[in-house]
Formats: sequence, structure tokens, C-alpha cells
Amino acid sequence: MTLLSQLLPPAAQQLRDAGIDGAMGDARVLLAHAAGIAPDRLTLHLADPATPEVTQRFAELIARRAARVPVSHLLGYRLFWGRRFAVSPDVLDPRPETEDLIAAALSRPFGRVLDLGTGSGCILLTLLAERPAAQGFGVDLSPAALQMAARNAEGLGVAERVSWGQGSWFAPVRGSFDLIVSNPPYIAADEMAQLSPEVRLHEPRMALTDEADGLTHYRVIAAQSPGFLSPGGRLMVEIGPTQGPAVAGLLQAAGFQDVALRKDLDGRDRVVSGVAPNAA
Ligand SMILES: C[S@@+](CC[C@H](N)C(=O)[O-])C[C@H]1O[C@@H](n2cnc3c(N)ncnc32)[C@H](O)[C@@H]1O
Repeated sequence: MTLLSQLLPPAAQQLRDAGIDGAMGDARVLLAHAAGIAPDRLTLHLADPATPEVTQRFAELIARRAARVPVSHLLGYRLFWGRRFAVSPDVLDPRPETEDLIAAALSRPFGRVLDLGTGSGCILLTLLAERPAAQGFGVDLSPAALQMAARNAEGLGVAERVSWGQGSWFAPVRGSFDLIVSNPPYIAADEMAQLSPEVRLHEPRMALTDEADGLTHYRVIAAQSPGFLSPGGRLMVEIGPTQGPAVAGLLQAAGFQDVALRKDLDGRDRVVSGVAPNAA
């Protein structure tokens, strides 16, 4: 009789051979998934027998992981700000760095929030879940991403407070907002080759790069946001670690006040914010 614990070492070796860092951690998460056990309870079940069905499911998951499919795509979800977001190859995986944008956004009150390039909806839906009186509008160029975001809104119980617009940046947007947030595609075209296979091959290219210098979308967002912010409203964008001065300069050029750079937990520039130019 094979035990669940005995499946782990060869699986982790298979992942190591495929060049995957953290192979044992991934193998444990996938074994828990294959066995229908919560990941934090796997240790309690390691002496359980491995049924043929679980062994087969686990082998298939490990083979796909060895082909560099992200763990989140194998599980179908990713945790963000303590909540579960459904993900697929149609949306960017929510990243821990983006939680810095959430922390910054929650530091002041807001009623109406606009999220440009909503993807899975992780930013907008987290803000709505954290602020039960707030209303949101999420924009994406990708209809498939908007479907995933709408599904996540249902799952988090905030669907009645959010609406969606398909199109490029401000094209589907009407009215004004207290807060505009965005994590636009900011990887420069010539940096794409350096990305891991998980990102390069399994996440949507249109979520990653502007196919240019990485700043294209910030130029549009900084220039047009003032027309959609209420007096005193704020713009907050996530940035790549080298883009702080350039993006802060774009906000200043658009007339934003109190332009500030916020660092992530690793000490790298991560969020640029500013107050609407028409503030009193
Ligand atoms: C970096 S992802 C961010 C997704 C999500 N907000 C997050 O933080 O995980 C950028 C998103 O912008 C969308 N996007 C790309 N070009 C766009 C455009 N011109 N107008 C609106 N959305 C766009 C992509 O489809 C993608 O969902």
C-alpha cells in the first residue's frame, strides 16, 4: 500500500528536474489539491493510503507543473488580500506586490472607485469588499478578463456594487470618481524574454507588456485621469521598480498635487499616487 507521503519525494524531484524553485512546496500544495485536503492540513493526512484515483490525479498535476503551468492555474484560484480569486490563462495572476496598492488605497476614504485594467478584479473587488458602502467600475480591454472579474464579484458578494466596461482605458467610462486605481501592463517589450516560462507562456501578453518602453499606458492614464476625478480625488498606480521617477513625472506634468512614491515590503518603488489637479 502506498502512502500519500511516499508520493512526495519523486514528485518534488520531477519538478526540480524541470527547473522549478520551491519544488517540494508546490508538490505538497498539488498533493493536497489532488486528495481534496486543505493545504494546511496535508501533514495530518500524510500517513493515509494513496488511492489509485488520487495517485493518478496527482501524477497529472505534477506533469503539468513540470511543463511550467503555474500552480494557480492548476488550482484554479489565487489568494489575494486574504480572499480567493478565480484565475485562468485569461487574466493576470494577482500578485502580492499589488497588495501594496490596496494598502495605499485603503489609507483614505472613498465612495466611488474606478479600476483601469481590472483583470481578475482583484484590486477593485478587494476595495469594495473592504469598504461596504463603496461603488466600483472596472474596465478592461479583454472581454474574457471581464467575465472572470464578474465571476469573482459574485463569489465575493459584491456584484451589486460593481459595473463593468469593455474598452481601452477611459473609453467606456462616464462620470467622476473619488479614486482611480490601475495596475496597467508595464513590462517593456525588450524585458519580456527575461520572464519565467510560467509568466511568459501562461499569462496573457496584453496584461504584461505595452509592446514598447513600459510607460505607454501611464501616459494615457496620467493625462486623462483628471477629467474623471472629483475634487480632491486620488490616482494610484502600481509601477515596476525602475519606473518611479518617470511615472511620478507624468503625474506632475498632468498637474497632480502631492505626488508620492510608495515602496513595497522589499523596499522597491511600487505605487505612485497623486491628488487631482482640481482639488480645492
Ligand atoms: C497588469 S494586468 C492587471 C490586472 C489586475 N488589475 C491585477 O492587478 O492583477 C493589466 C490589465 O490591463 C488590461 N489592459 C491591457 N490593455 C488595456 C487597455 N488598452 N485598456 C484597458 N485595459 C487594458 C489587461 O487585459 C489586463 O487585465
